[in-house]
Amino acid sequence: MIPRLTFETQLENEKYILRCPAHVDAPAFYRLVNKEVAYFMSFDYIKDIQESKMVIEKMRKNIHEWEKWDSVIVQKNTHEIIGCISICRYFDDTNAIEFGYWLGKEHWGKWIMTEIVRFFANYAFSQMKVRKIIISAQAENIGSRKIAEKIGAKLDGLFREHKSRKWKLVDIAVYSVFENEIIQ
Ligand SMILES: CC(C)(COP(=O)(O)OP(=O)(O)OC[C@H]1O[C@@H](n2cnc3c(N)ncnc32)[C@H](O)[C@@H]1OP(=O)(O)O)[C@@H](O)C(=O)NCCC(=O)NCCS
Repeated sequence: MIPRLTFETQLENEKYILRCPAHVDAPAFYRLVNKEVAYFMSFDYIKDIQESKMVIEKMRKNIHEWEKWDSVIVQKNTHEIIGCISICRYFDDTNAIEFGYWLGKEHWGKWIMTEIVRFFANYAFSQMKVRKIIISAQAENIGSRKIAEKIGAKLDGLFREHKSRKWKLVDIAVYSVFENEIIQ
């Protein structure tokens, strides 16, 4: 069970709001989750609005069942959804969480996700009292690996042919960070 995060939880800093996905977000998901965004992800791109609604329904079910905590990232100045950040796994025995995240292509390369991951990590340590945060990225996903490194996470290991992604076996780089290691 993911600690201290509910359906109603909403996190915000001066630029972004993180809130649970709602059915009205379906058009935004459909627009944002294209082939390039999905390339390194465990899921495929969203093909139509109907599929988008199903994805959101699944996310909401996971939140209700305390399996995961997915949130959409809303840019405050435009009120636009620009991506997603999730707690995709919670490790009860070690009180660790794993983050997953994506941004719409037009928002890449502006240090947005580094800021959001750092913000959420600070919240998880200070409010949720988690002990450790894990970030796993496909070895070739340089952008995601740099985010982990920029917030102070250490490379725990490179696991060869560790996951199946889009019908091929891929190497996975696993990073983790403790509260005292976060680079602000
Ligand atoms: C990975 C992703 C979240 C990065 O988000 P972003 O907001 O563009 O990343 P940032 O702008 O915060 O960049 C962080 C660092 O990575 C670098 N970087 C980002 N994308 C990169 C890329 N494709 N190749 C090389 N470096 C990249 C940036 O230059 C920056 O480093 P710098 O500060 O030294 O310049 C975004 O590209 C994305 O959503 N990709 C598709 C989904 C995905 O791969 N999710 C992660 C799965 S583990």
